[in-house]
Amino acid sequence: MRDRLGREIDYLRVSVTDRCNLRCLYCLPPQGVRPKAHDEILHYEEIVRLVEVGVSLGIRRVRLTGGEPLARLGLTKLVAQLAAIPGLEDLSLTTNGTLLAPLAAPLKQAGLKRVNVSLDTLRPERFRAITRRGTLADAWAGIEAALAVGLDPVKINTVALAGVNDDEIGELAALTRRLPLHVRFIEVMPLGADLDWAAAHALPMAAVRSAVEKAGLLEPADVAGAGPAAAWRFPGAPGTVGFIAALSEAFCARCNRLRLTADGRLKPCLASDVEVDVRGLLRGGAGTGELKGAFRRALELKPTHHDLASYTEHTRVMCQIGG
Ligand code: 5AD
Ligand code: SF4
Repeated sequence: MRDRLGREIDYLRVSVTDRCNLRCLYCLPPQGVRPKAHDEILHYEEIVRLVEVGVSLGIRRVRLTGGEPLARLGLTKLVAQLAAIPGLEDLSLTTNGTLLAPLAAPLKQAGLKRVNVSLDTLRPERFRAITRRGTLADAWAGIEAALAVGLDPVKINTVALAGVNDDEIGELAALTRRLPLHVRFIEVMPLGADLDWAAAHALPMAAVRSAVEKAGLLEPADVAGAGPAAAWRFPGAPGTVGFIAALSEAFCARCNRLRLTADGRLKPCLASDVEVDVRGLLRGGAGTGELKGAFRRALELKPTHHDLASYTEHTRVMCQIGG
């Protein structure tokens, strides 16, 4: 599938729930956001149907997100159904890792290929402060389980935050010297509940990069599915380091994705409120042709670039989009 700008769109990020067991400072307000009612959320069969339509149009890779995708019961069943779709080449999951340890083996068994785990700190008290309710040991157990069962690659998403974890950037990068982890630093985007907070803690990627280089010189590295994060490594290290500068160096020209929200809207862009309703179509008995039409409409509506740097309010916070 190509969009108006000729960008090849072959990647669909599917949010399976808007709920999360954590309340990260950059994502949610302390009390969370009102969760959607169960009948507003797509059933697994509906997700499978939509992914099948997407694959028939050229989607090759699917990533499951949330909220926290592992907070939804029976996710392994969905993974197995998606993994069985012919033509779907890559199936991955983005998770905060805290519920992952017991699920890593069944997910791998069901056909999940790889995971991205969010981890902003290696300090237990700080982990609790950033996530407001999580336990670092749980997330770490999830990461270790992912490595142990052979989910590959295991990527770590680290939101770099001035005055919160900027003193740990070297240590987080150094994880890649002893483990085959791919640590990617991400600029905080104004897509959470508190835009002033995001502005106050923004840390440009150039500063992150120099902090990493203080821990050692980097050489270019190749990683499968590297996406917007070109990869680097410390010489001889089993893992890699990446830098995702969504604000300071927007990569919209290389954007390759659409999103499906948990409540059944196709989103052409993470940073735009434009949506195409597919839940209504599905539940109104739409045929495959109409569903394909909705994908094409989402493609046509894909903006040329985002306007994140303007720090404007959006109708959904990250947890309701799926990152
Ligand atoms: N800015 C940047 N990254 C964010 N994430 C969640 N909210 C934000 C934000 N406002 C990250 C999470 C997770 C991924 C889905 O997105 O840490 O790794
Ligand atoms: Fe949950 Fe992820 Fe948002 Fe943290 S960033 S509250 S883990 S959805």
